[in-house]
Amino acid sequence: IKKIGVLTSGGDSPGMNAAIRAVVRTGLDLGYQVCGVRDGYLGLHEGNIIELNRTSVSDILNRGGTFLGTARFPAFKIESVRAECIEVMKDHGIDALVVIGGDGSYMGAKLLSEMGYPCIGLPGTIDNDIAGTYTTIGFDTALDTAVNCIDRLRDTCSSHKRIAVVEVMGRHCGDLAMSAAIACGVEAVLVPEKPWDKETVYHQIEEGIAGGKRHAIIVVCENQTDVHQMASELEARTGLETRATVLGHIQRGGTPSAADRVLASRMGAYAVQLLHQGQSGRCIGIMRGALVHYDIIECLNTMKHQFRSEMYDLAYALR
Ligand code: F6P
Repeated sequence: IKKIGVLTSGGDSPGMNAAIRAVVRTGLDLGYQVCGVRDGYLGLHEGNIIELNRTSVSDILNRGGTFLGTARFPAFKIESVRAECIEVMKDHGIDALVVIGGDGSYMGAKLLSEMGYPCIGLPGTIDNDIAGTYTTIGFDTALDTAVNCIDRLRDTCSSHKRIAVVEVMGRHCGDLAMSAAIACGVEAVLVPEKPWDKETVYHQIEEGIAGGKRHAIIVVCENQTDVHQMASELEARTGLETRATVLGHIQRGGTPSAADRVLASRMGAYAVQLLHQGQSGRCIGIMRGALVHYDIIECLNTMKHQFRSEMYDLAYALR
């Protein structure tokens, strides 16, 4: 390997810049040339590629988003499109690719690996839904943002004696919702991994209010229910004013937390070290504080992100 490419793909997450910086600087230190692909797999297909040096990645460590840009590119599922991308990389002399992103990006890296192209996947998503890692780059920052927002809602709900129904991101993974629920001490948390019914939730809220609570907060993972409809049903049922808030893309932006910067820096450097050792077709994770790597094909075909039922139980036990 002489030249390494790096790209960010799918939804951005805070800490991606720190990961790119670590890939670039570790790569240069080990004697490789490094280039950045703009706008994910889409930019790869278009040949939107730039050479990177140490100063190209100055002043990005503390910035949210990804300075390389990102995109969702469904056409990458088509084999001929991927073959064209491999040709583009060959034309640019890129011998290996580091992909930073979520499950769609991992799928792309897996498909490239299956075609014999050397790839390393880094888990960059706020959803924390990737197999083979306890946490993903961006999850910690998104959690802080969600907690900060819910704390503010609590203030105003308590003043007005209101109920808040708050939708958080996570796609089909309840990790962000469950951690936010524990950190904010909410009355209920609704996640895709645990069946729930409105009647039980509404009854629990009524009980809390009858027991003297001044307000109630329900955290709902996205894609679970219409939070606006839930708010009007709760208002009709309890007689308390109820407001729905969708936190949305607020959770994706912002300065990465120290934990995300450290995680991303460690993972980015590790990706290049693995390539240097002759490894490829791997995805990186962190387990019990230590960096780990798995076969990316095996990871996507056979491993699953584990549901943390103890987190869910704790959120309910402490409410
Ligand atoms: O995967 C990150 C994520 O923010 C999910 O939580 C959410 O479901 C999705 O991306 C939103 O996608 P988009 O930015 O394309 O609207």
